[in-house]
Amino acid sequence: MLDETVRIDRYGVMGYPISHSRSPVIHRLFALQTSQNLQYELLQVAPGKLDQAVQQFQRTGGKGLNVTAPHKTAIARLCDQLSERATLAGAVNTVVFRENEIYGDNTDGVGLLRDLTHNQQLGLRGKNILILGAGGATRGIVGPLLSLSPHSLVIANRSIEKAEALVEIFENRGAVSACRFDEVPTELSYDLIINATSAGVNGETPPYPEAAVSAKTICYDLSYGLTPTPFSVWGKEHNAVRSVMGWGMLVEQAAESFHIWRGVRPDTAPVLKQIAITA
Ligand code: ATR
Repeated sequence: MLDETVRIDRYGVMGYPISHSRSPVIHRLFALQTSQNLQYELLQVAPGKLDQAVQQFQRTGGKGLNVTAPHKTAIARLCDQLSERATLAGAVNTVVFRENEIYGDNTDGVGLLRDLTHNQQLGLRGKNILILGAGGATRGIVGPLLSLSPHSLVIANRSIEKAEALVEIFENRGAVSACRFDEVPTELSYDLIINATSAGVNGETPPYPEAAVSAKTICYDLSYGLTPTPFSVWGKEHNAVRSVMGWGMLVEQAAESFHIWRGVRPDTAPVLKQIAITA
């Protein structure tokens, strides 16, 4: 009799470190909910070992991967074909092993949009958005956010050159501008402030622009944690109407990956609820 494990489609998430990742739990819940027979593994892959790890995973029956820090840019070079949104983001978080090619996509931006517009019920057309940070995370979300036609999108960063470089990439897609943290235009009343810096993760608290928060502002931290992140605390302390962490984006980007792999869209609401309870 054929060993059952041989027939189960393999997926996984590669990153370094990776032990904190909630992706296996999320994808197992999706699989259970949609009756998909698959396994999803946690794969710790050190920087410099990505090529080898990807090849081995594919050789041993891997069907698809999620890729997280620090490999999101490096994996793009191993793909034969990239989606338009992955090209624009300059990063890949979802890989599909097809018969003759490795396909790379990026579901982070659409995951954020789905959390903001569907779960948070936030319409962004004509609204003012401020993004703090200008690294890889920001690059992945600027295109999708501009597609919602906000009135303005300001990117504030410690190093102004990086924010300006992003403006050059995206200026033909909408009203996007760059500044330093202490230059954030305060004549605009921000509907949404997104923290896309990695400062909190490193235990640092940058001088987030206090004057940018008003009673109508939603603060959204792309980071998430078992306890409130420093930015989500900051948002509450400055009387934002709501201050949330990126659990919703995490679950929604996972659902989009799952859909790409399996052709089935899971219901995220119960999974988000369960993750939040077990978080
Ligand atoms: P990611 O892929 O998570 O975006 P990244 O590309 O290394 O990671 O970018 C990290 C972002 O966090 C950058 O915008 C960085 O600012 P700089 O471009 O000036 O380095 C920002 N960041 C990290 N630590 C910070 C801190 N203590 N204060 C302000 N910004 C910080």
